[in-house]
Amino acid sequence: MKKLLFVNGRVVNEGRISELDVLVSHGRIDRLGTGPVPAGTDIVDLDGLHVLPGVIDDQVHFREPGMTHKATIESESLAAICGGVTSYLDMPNNSPPAVDRAALAAKKALASRSSYANFGFYLGATNGNVEELGRAAPSDACGIKVFMGASTGNMLVDDAATLDAIFSVAQLLVVTHCEDSPMIRAAEQLARERYGEDVPMSEHPRIRSAEACLKSSSLAVDLARRHGTRLHVLHLTTARELALFDAGPIAEKRITVEACVHHLWFDETRYGDLGTRIKCNPAIKTAEDRRALIAAVNDDVIDIIATDHAPHTLEEKSRSYFSAPAGLPLVQHMLPMLLDQHRDGIFSLETIVEKTAHNPARLFRIEERGFIREGYVADLAIVDLHATTRVTSEAIRYKCGWSPLESCTLRAAVVMTVLGGEIVVDRGSVTGPPRGRALTFAR
Ligand code: DOR
Repeated sequence: MKKLLFVNGRVVNEGRISELDVLVSHGRIDRLGTGPVPAGTDIVDLDGLHVLPGVIDDQVHFREPGMTHKATIESESLAAICGGVTSYLDMPNNSPPAVDRAALAAKKALASRSSYANFGFYLGATNGNVEELGRAAPSDACGIKVFMGASTGNMLVDDAATLDAIFSVAQLLVVTHCEDSPMIRAAEQLARERYGEDVPMSEHPRIRSAEACLKSSSLAVDLARRHGTRLHVLHLTTARELALFDAGPIAEKRITVEACVHHLWFDETRYGDLGTRIKCNPAIKTAEDRRALIAAVNDDVIDIIATDHAPHTLEEKSRSYFSAPAGLPLVQHMLPMLLDQHRDGIFSLETIVEKTAHNPARLFRIEERGFIREGYVADLAIVDLHATTRVTSEAIRYKCGWSPLESCTLRAAVVMTVLGGEIVVDRGSVTGPPRGRALTFAR
């Protein structure tokens, strides 16, 4: 493996931006700052580009096994590295679902052969696998995923006694999708009576309502408090739910919360032009909700920003309201989107790095990644704040071939991605075979 010396870059790390050379050797960050250049080192002049820790996306759906017509671990992890995402945590709503340790081992084996980025997998909860959840150790899974609201896949956990038991036995972090399914079913019924099958997309945030989110996230927080469980609530979408969470550093919290990039980007005014392309669960809500989520990121109420990357084919998305599946592909574009928002003064670079790399590493206790520190694995995203990313069908790497941002020009670009000390993406070109590794969790 070559030694690399990145010079003239601006390193964004742990709340600071510093002009530091980065020497990478044997896959690790060997030295930050100046010093002798070891023989045989390749020098990469970054000419003022910013060097960020590679993004750790704590919520993706890469669809394997079982839904490979939408996506594969290989296709989506390649899109991930093109967008500066060097590690991801993948959800269990596969076919068959990943609800026992044997299924997780099979996913891990598959990713070891085909993943371009580093990987971890969630163990899924069901109404019938509490014992298996209790037995799962940190080496088996990054966390336990509980669908407290029904979404893609058939993984709803709606039995009150089971939910109680899951929160009481879990040794791993519990992550939840919070929407109250009975409230949603009642709202769907009303919409059907009013519109038939042809429900306008603009009804989605009223059907998958703020009240349904609040009811379910309140229950999750309540259960976690009662049992002392470590809880991470995924993809928060409403201003009202924010009151359930504390502001402050992630290290001091047992209950944490994530926002997704599409909920920080779109609001309900976009259903008119984007329709089912932005149908997702929980729904994109009002402009006021979006503003409140952005403020909560900056106030350290929201701890992590992720994608919930959830690809479906365009044919599936072109169906009518009830049949079009929920979810959008985002993993290639999250970092340029956040950097574009940085250009508007919405997020600082330090905040972007905190929410997309440091905090996922801290929360999931990912070893030796997520920070630019001497001795850590060299997973880096090198970005240009003066270049642009045009989201075109030719440049999209998702297997499904589309993006909700198509024809947008984002005002920043990922120039290089470094994974385990190798430049794996260089100005849009992927330079080698899959090199992703299993993440390890210190617990
Ligand atoms: O919109 C969504 N799509 N929300 C989820 O919770 C699941 C995801 C998917 O897997 O399609």
